[in-house]
Amino acid sequence: MSTSPTKSPEWRPLAAQRAALACGAYELLYGGAAGGGKSDYLLVAPLRWVHLPASRAILFRRSFPELERTLIARSHTLYRPLGASYHATRREWAFPGGGLVTFGYLESPTDALRYQGAEFSFVGFDELTHFDEASYRYLSSRLRSAHGVPVRLRATTNPGGPGHEWVRHRWGAWIGREPTALPGERRWYDPDGRAVIDGTPDALSRVFLPAALRDNPYLGTAYRAQLLALDPVTRAQLLDGDWDAAVGEGALFHRDWWRMLDTAPPVARSVRAWDFGAGGDATVGVLLGDAGHDVTPRWVVLDVVSHRGPPHEVHRLVQATAARDGRAVTVVVPQDPGQAGVDQAASYTRELAGYDVRTRRPTGDKVTRARPWSAQVGAGNAALVRAPWTAAFVAELHAFPEGGHDDQVDASADAFATLVDTPAYAFTRVPSTRR
Ligand SMILES: Nc1ncnc2c1ncn2[C@@H]1O[C@H](COP(=O)(O)OP(=O)(O)OP(=O)(O)O)[C@@H](O)[C@H]1O
Ligand SMILES: [Mg+2]
Repeated sequence: MSTSPTKSPEWRPLAAQRAALACGAYELLYGGAAGGGKSDYLLVAPLRWVHLPASRAILFRRSFPELERTLIARSHTLYRPLGASYHATRREWAFPGGGLVTFGYLESPTDALRYQGAEFSFVGFDELTHFDEASYRYLSSRLRSAHGVPVRLRATTNPGGPGHEWVRHRWGAWIGREPTALPGERRWYDPDGRAVIDGTPDALSRVFLPAALRDNPYLGTAYRAQLLALDPVTRAQLLDGDWDAAVGEGALFHRDWWRMLDTAPPVARSVRAWDFGAGGDATVGVLLGDAGHDVTPRWVVLDVVSHRGPPHEVHRLVQATAARDGRAVTVVVPQDPGQAGVDQAASYTRELAGYDVRTRRPTGDKVTRARPWSAQVGAGNAALVRAPWTAAFVAELHAFPEGGHDDQVDASADAFATLVDTPAYAFTRVPSTRR
């Protein structure tokens, strides 16, 4: 595949990108707010050496779909005008001078082993907190200088994500709880990762540079508005690049955020979602109503039942509750992984013949699953009906994820997810008050 070299694309570095591009340290993390121009920086950074035939760069995203959607898609805009040609099966750009830029993904820790024996002059990771530390270390060991091409280890990321802690620890001098280095200040580390003074043999230099959304004039206010609609913790991480925004008590479902109602308002549709207790935990069923998109607060927790007991009692409770809620209410039962989960969900579906029963397979961790629901509660768009269960519900959600229990968090988040995932016309309208 060949392309005609045309003039360079219109790409001028933002101030922070310029600092990152100029950084001569061995290892750099360019991190912070979403939309700070991090991925664009990573694509442009290796271009400085692509005129050298020995220049070998590789850029990673955690998964292949993300890689295609982000770095690869954008690379066509940025690289093609430079006369580079793309080899799709190798996921590799060849530049006129002989330099190569390849794309890779590391979905499982063993994927790193595919690069055994490979050598690169530039290794880059986009969204570093999505990777595990072992993969990062392994790939960085593939860095070799050849024929005067300097070696560079580069990463970009937002705070948050599964690798938040190790990334924060590695750049602890800049973004830890007690930072000792200024943004852009260079520090040296020995091969075992210990901080050493400049001039120590084998020491490698490391730098952190912050990326901020406000730096990027290429993004409109709509992008900022999207970030403002996130739950409070994710918002602080993505909008402000805040590494300290902690998911802790009151962070996701603060007790002051709920609107309290004395009686149940009319709702357009409602869902009863169950979380089955295991190992002595309570089984919980949360009834959540949707008052309609033009009503605030839109989401109303109408009822919570809970029970500790053997399986046959739980089955009886689920059936009795469905009968009490009525046929207009959708019932959601979780389907745990494995055959036992499939069998359990199937047996509930059979027992609830005549009701609209849905099964949900939990995906991602509990905090991730709770975030969309937290965003609504945090925005003052959720209410609770005053009842004997209300205080315990508020307390459990306030303590999440630090508290001992999360059954009511899971059940209400599942009810919410079902309501937002299911188009309104798929539900039967329910009468103004629940029976
Ligand atoms: N120097 C630049 N010149 C032109 N456009 C730019 C420049 N830097 C970034 N952009 C554009 O701004 C938008 C955001 O940049 P980019 O995707 O690099 O940010 P990001 O920090 O990786 O964002 P996210 O956190 O969402 O991954 C993109 O559309 C990108 O193409
Ligand atoms: Mg990006």
